[in-house]
Amino acid sequence: MLAIHGGTPVRAGRAWPAWPQYDERTEAELLAALRSQRWSVSWYSPRGGKSRERLFGEAFARYTGAAHGVSVDHGSGALVIALEALGIGPGDEVIVPAMTWVAPASAVLRVGAIPILVDVDPETGCLTAEHIRTALSARTKAVIAVHLACTTVRLDEIRTVTGASGLALIEDCSQAHGSRWAGRTVGTFGEIGVFSLGAAKTLAGGEAGAAVTDSRELYERMLMLRADSRGYTRHEPAAGEYELVETGAVMGANYCMSELTAAVLLDQLQRLDDQHARRETRAKELEAGLAGIPGLAPVPVPAPVDRRAVYEYGIRFRPGTFGAAPIEQVAAALTAELGTRVYPPRDPLHRSALLRPHTKPRFAQNWSRAAERATGRRYPGADHYRAHTLLVHHSVLLGERTDIEDLLTALDKVRAHAADLLAEGTLA
Ligand SMILES: Cc1ncc(COP(=O)(O)O)c(C=O)c1O
Repeated sequence: MLAIHGGTPVRAGRAWPAWPQYDERTEAELLAALRSQRWSVSWYSPRGGKSRERLFGEAFARYTGAAHGVSVDHGSGALVIALEALGIGPGDEVIVPAMTWVAPASAVLRVGAIPILVDVDPETGCLTAEHIRTALSARTKAVIAVHLACTTVRLDEIRTVTGASGLALIEDCSQAHGSRWAGRTVGTFGEIGVFSLGAAKTLAGGEAGAAVTDSRELYERMLMLRADSRGYTRHEPAAGEYELVETGAVMGANYCMSELTAAVLLDQLQRLDDQHARRETRAKELEAGLAGIPGLAPVPVPAPVDRRAVYEYGIRFRPGTFGAAPIEQVAAALTAELGTRVYPPRDPLHRSALLRPHTKPRFAQNWSRAAERATGRRYPGADHYRAHTLLVHHSVLLGERTDIEDLLTALDKVRAHAADLLAEGTLA
């Protein structure tokens, strides 16, 4: 019997790997930041030297292979300063995939531009060059390409279309830190790469973000945009000096990262590649096992990806694999078997409860323009992906081979008992 109906679960009493992970080194870094009394980049430097948020920006740029990195408060803030640095504002349109967290769309609204939602590939949930082409207009200025869950957009195709149309490309790598396409790290293919470093992400700082770029000009603009029109002093601050200088060249706002957060991130960054390697080992085992279960397959990864970064591991199922049960039922049954969350992707943005711009006066007008532009637009790829992809958090892949065996056993059990699940339309 399925655990959801009172049967014995596949796994009981054995914990899954905890997330986020930290140890004495993290504690020491955090305590050192606390004791430094330099809790903010805006505050003076009692002992001199660079702020931790500046050091993290530099370290993260090195990690991605970009020339420059800017630490910010959130991935959402990184998106806003990226758009502003590129000069995007009122009247401009920015193409955003329908299958993503709400921030790429809301960031476009926050800079006064119009988000144009486009459909995505049904198997990867990522936008494609073809989808971009269907949405181009004389007002299109940029594309926000989101590398989703455990795969990446086809950067070759996307760059061809953005290049040919003279559009700026912002890569949203919030779910793909360190993923590589043909030897090069994602985030460096467009003008700017943005990253969320929230608590759930593979590089976790609690509430944090970063932006990377190869352009000195965009870097300097983003510095000012994120720190109320202030950039760094040319020299390292001496004891008692401030590190930010008022340039006023570009009007900014405050999206600064706290020094305490930067201390945690400087520690976490050193763990990221080992964690990626561990997840990849588990992902390969999972893929080998999925090949033996009818109807199931991993979310595909484009061939040029030579290192994938798993944020949420995606398992696709052919329609009918779980009978007539909706994905919510399948996910609930698997969660009950495993004691860790298995879940469907969030609703795509065209029907997301998180995207309600008409409820905010400052967004309402642009949103009605976006709605006009979207008339007749359909999102079958996003809807298919939403209804036929099961996700697990990346921490599930940080454990042992036996964890993967449990996952596979649960998938096969729920599939074999699919007739016991409630069919679509019979849910209360
Ligand atoms: C693709 C994507 N973009 C942007 C964000 C926003 O990041 P934050 O929550 O740090 O603002 C997220 C967060 O989940 C995300 O997944």
